[in-house]
Amino acid sequence: MQRTEDGQTVKLADYRPTDFVLHGVDMTLMLFEGHAEIATTLTLERRAGVAADAPLVLDGDELILESLALDGETLSPSRYVATPEQLTVTGLAESGRFELAIGTRIAPEANSKLMGLFRSNGIWCSQCEAEGFRRITYFLDRPDVLAPYRVRIEADRTAAPILLSNGNPVEAGDLEGGRHFAVWDDPFNKPSYLFAVVAGDLDLLTDEFVTMSGRRVALGIYTEKGRAPQAAYAMDALKRSMAWDERRFGREYDLDVFNVVAIADFNMGAMENKGLNVFNHKYVLLDQDIATDGDYAGVETVIAHEYFHNWTGNRITCRDWFQLCLKEGLTVYRDQEFSADERERTVQRIGSVRRLKAHQFPEDQGPLQHPVRPGEYREINNFYTATVYDKGAELVRMIATLAGEADFRKGMDLYFERHDGEAATIEEFIACFEDAAGIDLSQFALWYVQAGTPTLAVSESWDDEARTHVVTLRQSLVPGAAGTGIQPMVLPVRFGLVGGNGEDRDAAASVSGGASLKDDLIVLTGREASITFTGLPDRPYLSVLRDFSAPVTLDHEQGEADRLALARLDPNLFNRWRALDDLISGALTEASGRPLGDTAPVISEAVVEALLASAGDDGLDPAFRAQALALPGEADIARQIGVDVDPDRVHEVVDAARLAIGTRGLAMFERLHGLAADAHFSPDAASAGRRALANAALGYLSAARQEPAAALAQYEAATNMTDRIGALAILAHRFPGEASTEAALDDFYRRFEGDDLVLDKWFALQAAAPFNGALETVIRLAGHPRFTMRNPNRVRALVGTFAASNQVAFHRPDGAGYRWVAEKLAALDRINPQISARIATTFRAWRSFERGRRSQLEQTLRQLSEIKGLSKDLQDIVDRSLK
Ligand code: TRP
Ligand code: ZN
Repeated sequence: MQRTEDGQTVKLADYRPTDFVLHGVDMTLMLFEGHAEIATTLTLERRAGVAADAPLVLDGDELILESLALDGETLSPSRYVATPEQLTVTGLAESGRFELAIGTRIAPEANSKLMGLFRSNGIWCSQCEAEGFRRITYFLDRPDVLAPYRVRIEADRTAAPILLSNGNPVEAGDLEGGRHFAVWDDPFNKPSYLFAVVAGDLDLLTDEFVTMSGRRVALGIYTEKGRAPQAAYAMDALKRSMAWDERRFGREYDLDVFNVVAIADFNMGAMENKGLNVFNHKYVLLDQDIATDGDYAGVETVIAHEYFHNWTGNRITCRDWFQLCLKEGLTVYRDQEFSADERERTVQRIGSVRRLKAHQFPEDQGPLQHPVRPGEYREINNFYTATVYDKGAELVRMIATLAGEADFRKGMDLYFERHDGEAATIEEFIACFEDAAGIDLSQFALWYVQAGTPTLAVSESWDDEARTHVVTLRQSLVPGAAGTGIQPMVLPVRFGLVGGNGEDRDAAASVSGGASLKDDLIVLTGREASITFTGLPDRPYLSVLRDFSAPVTLDHEQGEADRLALARLDPNLFNRWRALDDLISGALTEASGRPLGDTAPVISEAVVEALLASAGDDGLDPAFRAQALALPGEADIARQIGVDVDPDRVHEVVDAARLAIGTRGLAMFERLHGLAADAHFSPDAASAGRRALANAALGYLSAARQEPAAALAQYEAATNMTDRIGALAILAHRFPGEASTEAALDDFYRRFEGDDLVLDKWFALQAAAPFNGALETVIRLAGHPRFTMRNPNRVRALVGTFAASNQVAFHRPDGAGYRWVAEKLAALDRINPQISARIATTFRAWRSFERGRRSQLEQTLRQLSEIKGLSKDLQDIVDRSLK
């Protein structure tokens, strides 16, 4: 992909294939203490039709060229130009294959960006997506250049007894001087971003999976020394993922080995390198003492996600990085479906929708807004976003809804058949469903190119005489992203007409305007449509957008009485939850509009009773009841308010709601909290749901009693991390500074100081504590001997959590929270720009705050933007945020 003239933006419209075709890659990586020598031989050929004098231009990033040979002969310097960013070779043959041998020298120890080849606790490890391979050798480093790789690794046998790469192991042996080697062969064509090597002294957990056609696959999870037993749950999740992909999508694994490596220093969650997934160890290592139920669910999801990429991402990859959602949105959809099947569908859906609203909606409604398939970027690392991943998954979900389950599967089958081995585009993906299901998705495709969250306005009117109910749907999109027209989109709207007996009513229906209706699905395609339902015995309760069937802001003119009825009656459990959530969000949003210190009730008694009724209903899944009890996040309320937000008032309102609910339901919360303990720990969804409910109850009863005794008792008696950290969070967040809280925090530190993953929780918990003095705490913790800017998990735990989750101290009116974060980001940017840019996105909401904070935030952003030598990553985020 060429950069445009300003050298800044890359545009989808400029896509063209490479001038040279790559037929194969042969690499030797010689690893030494302090440096590595990389010898790469590329078999290339000028593409038919390309001008005979067109040079070969390879990408590099901070590279030093050591040697260059063409078909075995050293190239004269007149034939090439090498800079750290590019290698240009001229005078190459007009046709026929040639071999270019490139020698580079790199320093993994000095690589703090964790892109390319780096070292993590002594382990050599690579990360190449999106553009990391060019930090190892000069290459056509783009996803549409596919080739088979043969990789030889050489290293000291003691430092690195384990030598891994993609594909199958084919050869290994000893070398002089205590060194050894291994050769790996990956027969599948792949792009460079899926390349991986790992070398080090690692422990191994092994298992086996027999595929549906009877092939044996050797499974291995490699961990740091002594931690292999903590990979047992990840291994279990891996085998369940492999079986699920066979059952649900007919997808079988394709190599003889599948390896996973867990490492401590990693920029994101995990990476789907062919046959050699590399993980942030946070998503592999756990047991009941160190991990929460949320951590277990996270491991299961991420293991599944990376495994599923083998088909959606690896066998079929992306033509260019604009198509990122082709693999990410689809793979998130697949991992969400896996978790829904393995756990409880409604509870999983509630979790996914909460996540979408907490991360994607604010992105889509602020200055960092971009389409699911962007049309341009300055730094691709900044497009691994909630929009590409989570909204991308929603788009796939809508295709499944529109096509229906059977035809969706046919479309997926066609996609795998038609594009296996290729680098594909969104258009090609969509065409598979059009062809397999015989539907027209041309209007639907707008979802990929129009940014922003559409609003779906719904109104109803009941005619008592005629016994008809008219439902009117209207869609609108706020003009936003430059260059995207605002045409009506295709909105699949699942619904039901709920009767007083809690059952969906059948009714004859007629449609007028831009929509179609079939069974329980309205598909709105115009700006507006009305549906007239006839033959109803009495006025129904309209349950609309069931299961969140489209990623829209729902603006349903519905009274409190109807919502209360649906919270009780709706046979669609997701919407029962949403009815409650809408009632509570609505109340808290409204109360937040009143001035700080206002003491009028923030939530009506009827709503409190409805919440307590759901939470106390033993006929419902405990995990669902815990979801019902989880109040909307303060950031979510702030987003709904939209302008002139005072975070202190929002915090005060949420606190008041917690107190009101806790006080009214105290007896019930005591009962629910008492139901907690299972004799034996099991991480399954049902047990986790019971713990979630008990911990939610503990939160409310602690708020009501306004004393920490119950939380302290739970902290001390805890036999698993969920209960222990659940109690500690209540102490640190509701009773900050109290002697018993400080003692518990110290105790936690001493218990777990040997485990970095648990220490991250200790840092994060304190960073999130919602009181003014938390700024002084994080300043102190940034000077703690265990704090380091070099470990992304640790930085995220302290700086990231403070910036993203502490609505009180980060937003201190004096701006000191903003300035501290900016100062840390400026320092971090010189170490790891991917992480500094990611954390900086928290500033994007600056325009929505009240005047004082708005100007403090803007000033902080402007100061950041003017720092000399800012990374492209951080500069891009700051500039777009200010736009
Ligand atoms: N492709 C990875 C996934 O979603 C994520 C990823 C992209 C990544 N770039 C990365 C992981 C850089 C680590 C570092 O599964
Ligand atoms: Zn992914």
